[in-house]
Amino acid sequence: MHGDIERVLISQFQIMARVKEMATQITRDFPEGDITIVPVLTGAMIFAGDLIRQIPIPMRIGLLTVSSYPGASLRTQGSTLIGQQLGDIRGRHVLLVDDILDSGGTVRLIVPVLRELGAADVKVCMLLRKDRPAAKDTHVDYVGFEIPDEFVVGYGLDYNNYYRNLPDIVTLTSDAIERMKDAS
Ligand code: IMP
Ligand code: MG
Repeated sequence: MHGDIERVLISQFQIMARVKEMATQITRDFPEGDITIVPVLTGAMIFAGDLIRQIPIPMRIGLLTVSSYPGASLRTQGSTLIGQQLGDIRGRHVLLVDDILDSGGTVRLIVPVLRELGAADVKVCMLLRKDRPAAKDTHVDYVGFEIPDEFVVGYGLDYNNYYRNLPDIVTLTSDAIERMKDAS
């Protein structure tokens, strides 16, 4: 698996330091606490796990599952909500947590759903934002890192549902991309 890495874009140590800063800011922004954190599965699972343990305020967790890169695709195929376990979010301060802002389709799909379900307000927290106009044009409240418009995996992000367990955020070799394409 490590032979598949082309280069490390963000190391686990950089991630750890930045997640701590983001958590400090979020803690400061919700002095009353009692928020609902909504990680977008599966990509945001690891990020959300690290983030919430550094936010010492009362919180609930709601889950959403979105599919946008089904199978071996390197570009979004459009986001679809395929499952939810949100609980009652009426009147609650919701913080949506996702791995990466790319086309912005996921945020545009989910934020209105959370509002329709009665959230008092919805803020969005992204670990990564790609350097492309569609991402820059989508409003989010917190961003961990700005990255080039490249396909990345690790720390929850996948290719064909592999590589989520890599601790660093990395790019893949073209060999690995070809090989994993057939692993469906
Ligand atoms: P968006 O809806 O196009 O903004 O894309 C968001 C979703 O697409 C993310 O939550 C990821 O699941 C997936 N995605 C976008 N870019 C990448 C990438 O470079 N690697 C892995 N998954 C990605
Ligand atoms: Mg995702």
